[in-house]
Amino acid sequence: MDEAREKTDPAQTELLDGLLERLCGAGRAVQCAALALALPWALLAAPGAAAEPHGAALFAAHCAACHGAGGSGDGPAAAGLDPKPRDLGDCAFANREPDADWLAVVHEGGSARGFSPLMPGFGASLSREDLEVVLAHVRRFCRDSDWPRGELNLPRPLFTEKAFPEDEAVFTTVANAEGDGDVVGEFLFEKRIGPRSQLELAYELRAREEPDGSWLGGGGDLAIGAKHAFHHDFERGRILSAGFEAWLPTGDDERGLGRGSVVLEPYLAWGQLLPRGAFLQVQALAELPTDRDLADELQLRAALGGSFTLRPFGRIISPMLEVIAAWELAGGSTFKLDLAPQVQIPLNRRQHVRLNVGARFPVTRAEERDTRVGVYLLWDWYDGGFLEGW
Ligand code: HEC
Repeated sequence: MDEAREKTDPAQTELLDGLLERLCGAGRAVQCAALALALPWALLAAPGAAAEPHGAALFAAHCAACHGAGGSGDGPAAAGLDPKPRDLGDCAFANREPDADWLAVVHEGGSARGFSPLMPGFGASLSREDLEVVLAHVRRFCRDSDWPRGELNLPRPLFTEKAFPEDEAVFTTVANAEGDGDVVGEFLFEKRIGPRSQLELAYELRAREEPDGSWLGGGGDLAIGAKHAFHHDFERGRILSAGFEAWLPTGDDERGLGRGSVVLEPYLAWGQLLPRGAFLQVQALAELPTDRDLADELQLRAALGGSFTLRPFGRIISPMLEVIAAWELAGGSTFKLDLAPQVQIPLNRRQHVRLNVGARFPVTRAEERDTRVGVYLLWDWYDGGFLEGW
């Protein structure tokens, strides 16, 4: 009960104590006993409501000197800090940071995630429970729930499109591991617009081996795209988006460097958190070439994975398995199924530069397609420069 009391609004405790004194002091034994029995429950009943004043008090005592009473980074001690703390009430910044990362920073100090060591670690002075309570208070500074929470920003698979709107630059290379040489590189730039939308630009570089063994390469196709998260629910751990990409035939298709047609790709994407750090990402898309000689294709891509750390507050490693099913809709539909195991690892402490390495194995009609290897290097540029946070 003492623990429950600590987290309770002092005003509420005072009120209950006053009641207790009056009823018990006035010799109303039954009411006094009933109230005494009810008291612990009253204090425990609304942990959320009770936690807030406690979180506010902890924040005022331990954090406000630098972060300011309202979290906007203007505390009296902030003047001497470089960099200064960011505005914790700025939803564009705050909501994309998952609790796990903030807990790591608050427990271990800024350097645990490649931030300023002037952000002290409180792991030795405050309990983990207190840190969670103070972070719950910090979460209240952002008042616009339109910004999806960073927990819904799941690790990017090699082939399945994410549902979360991103500020990222990604360079992906997919190459044949057998058969004739064939390499496709893709530069992708993604820019978030407002809380839930994103624009993107992609450009391919291609190289392939000719029958005589020589190599031929050059610039490929260019794509523009957009995405909008039309639903997100942190409590249920899910986010749903709709988007499209339009590939423009800038690559020379006669030399095998492009698609040879505008290709429209509308899609739906779903991200779902599962228990114990597991997650599922699903994308349903159509590939619709405007050149009617080329076949339309429907695809269903899914990535099942999990995130774990090797030590508390350490880097987050995410193995995933993608399943890619494709139906080509020409002259009787043909069905292709591929599996792509892979693992994503952060390269730096801030974890905003990441690598994913995997392979894509054809399962059906394997004789028509080669096993491919895939690698990407990802830079979440909103979180800092490429060379920051190592
Ligand atoms: C001595 C000053 C100081 C105190 C005290 C302090 N902080 Fe910080 N905090 C900082 C600075 C400076 C940064 C910015 C680090 C950077 O951007 O490199 C920061 C950053 C943060 C961040 C953002 C990390 C991110 O993802 O960018 C959070 C969250 C945070 N502090 C929470 C807290 C909480 C909660 C407390 C109290 C328990 C606290 N801080 C106490 C100075 C302080």
